[in-house]
Amino acid sequence: MLLLVKRILLRLKRLVVRLIGTLPPPAAPVRAALTFEKFEHRAPTHQNAADLFKGKWASKLGDVSDVAESGQISLFVSRIGVDVAQHLGTGGRFDGMSILELAPLEGAQTYQLDQLGAHTVAIEANAEAFLKCLVVKEVLNLRNSRFLLGDFVEYLAHSKDRFDLVFACGVLYHMQDPVNLIRLIAGVTDRCFVWTHYYDEAHRGSTLEMVAKPVTVHGLQTTYYQFNYPNMDYDLFYGGNKPVTSWMPRDSILDAFKHFGFGDITIISEQPDHPHGSCFGFVAQRRR
Ligand SMILES: C[S@@+](CC[C@H](N)C(=O)[O-])C[C@H]1O[C@@H](n2cnc3c(N)ncnc32)[C@H](O)[C@@H]1O
Repeated sequence: MLLLVKRILLRLKRLVVRLIGTLPPPAAPVRAALTFEKFEHRAPTHQNAADLFKGKWASKLGDVSDVAESGQISLFVSRIGVDVAQHLGTGGRFDGMSILELAPLEGAQTYQLDQLGAHTVAIEANAEAFLKCLVVKEVLNLRNSRFLLGDFVEYLAHSKDRFDLVFACGVLYHMQDPVNLIRLIAGVTDRCFVWTHYYDEAHRGSTLEMVAKPVTVHGLQTTYYQFNYPNMDYDLFYGGNKPVTSWMPRDSILDAFKHFGFGDITIISEQPDHPHGSCFGFVAQRRR
């Protein structure tokens, strides 16, 4: 009898979870597994520093440094910084501009912004990723970039700082409440760059169940397509710091930027059939 009641309660709980499209936060905090020898005996090299995260790098430091072993993805030499500077910089550069970068991951785009003359504050919530950024800062001698460990939503919600530009690459689709992030970005800048996946039923890039949830956020009505991250513990998990994420359709994202004052939007990249889900990049500015 007790077993039956337990089963019914469990089913009810699952039903509620499906209906509201959210799961409770994990019972125990997600822990990074960082293990390294206390003492180094080799002569000092950049490789030694990179080896603190051996097997855990996503990006290929060797593209821009003497670090031979790291990750596979050529993020440091992508064209993204140069492309955004063409639209939002002056003469294709960011000289003297203040940039708030949301989620530097391993500092690849921070490096590009630094090379283009920007003064960047980059906020990363993943503690391991933040420490990798500090390694990169030392290896590549990033003089005008600061890395902060923390949640950028919390930062934006309380910040009185203003920035010439917010650089938000690969973050919107990791937000539980993306419209709130767009509102907060609008509170600190008149210009931003965004690259994100978006919800398109025909090109989802995953088999995870997404639950449609109509929402009204700060006067904007839209629909969030939510799912739970299957495994935030995974070493190479580069997602958000909340268990639930909400994707939005492409045009709803653009409407949200317009709603919060960015009337001038230029699409700079578009890949509807991306294997991980449709995606696009755009610059958004307030109309002068
Ligand atoms: C897909 S990666 C994108 C990294 C990089 N910007 C790029 O485009 O290659 C997403 C990053 O967002 C970070 N992130 C997610 N939610 C965050 C939050 N609320 N505050 C700070 N960082 C966050 C993750 O830790 C991860 O580094």
